[in-house]
Amino acid sequence: MALVSVKQMLEKARDGKYAVGQFNINNLEWTKSILQTAQELNSPVILGVSEGAGKYMTGFKTVASMVKAMIEELNITVPVALHLDHGTYEGCYKCIEAGFSSIMFDGSHFPIDENIAKTKELVEVCKKKGLSLEAEVGSIGGEEDGVVGLGECADPDECKKIASLGITILAAGIGNIHGKYPANWPGLRFDVLAAIKEKVGDMPLVLHGGTGIPTDMIKKAISLGVAKINVNTECQLAFQEATRKYIEDGKDLQGKGFDPRKLLAPGCEAIKQTVREKMQIFGSIGKA
Ligand code: 13P
Repeated sequence: MALVSVKQMLEKARDGKYAVGQFNINNLEWTKSILQTAQELNSPVILGVSEGAGKYMTGFKTVASMVKAMIEELNITVPVALHLDHGTYEGCYKCIEAGFSSIMFDGSHFPIDENIAKTKELVEVCKKKGLSLEAEVGSIGGEEDGVVGLGECADPDECKKIASLGITILAAGIGNIHGKYPANWPGLRFDVLAAIKEKVGDMPLVLHGGTGIPTDMIKKAISLGVAKINVNTECQLAFQEATRKYIEDGKDLQGKGFDPRKLLAPGCEAIKQTVREKMQIFGSIGKA
């Protein structure tokens, strides 16, 4: 199946009161593990690519070619979107050219008028090409230089301004952050989420920083209009823990345990297990 935009899959999720996971990819193993799990569980899936991960994989063209070929070679029939995560203005154009099916323009650090102007321009470009566009209001916090910033809360009126530009989905800060949540995290601001939902109507909302958010909060967020949830760090931690165990158990020293196909296998299985658990919580299993 060819790559699809997120529009249809997220409108269906919003109406069916579940969410589709965006799982970030870093390499071939990540991509394969996520695609195989989505197929196994008959779930739609969104592959997220940050600009850093795109660069690591040698560029967005490599990523798009790899994903498209893998879908074909693995006979993946569930809907798959290839989505730029937190794109810069320039990054958006590179991904559009490379053949991504969905783009996120993160203009949250610009003054609102500049965020609006750039988002508006990208809405037109994406519409012409049939791509979906995610915009962001209220930056999502996270760890920077060892300091964990608590997430900002978006202004519901600014959300309305951006949502009315014709974007497909909106990411709005509601106290969520990327990476591990600190012990003193007060939790998601459902009052802010409800106020945003009230202003943006039935536009599907995106929850970033899906790692470590308790299940009850995830379910409540979905009931309030969240239809896409992004997960990155949790797959990385699962991969790291399984790989560490393989080496600590000395398995790399036994027989051909040094073969990368063996060395990376426990980490891949751990990614698959994490994706399975998330798809179960998000409610997307069987919804392809
Ligand atoms: P986590 O790394 O916290 O799961 O966040 C992922 C994310 O929001 C990517 O945009």
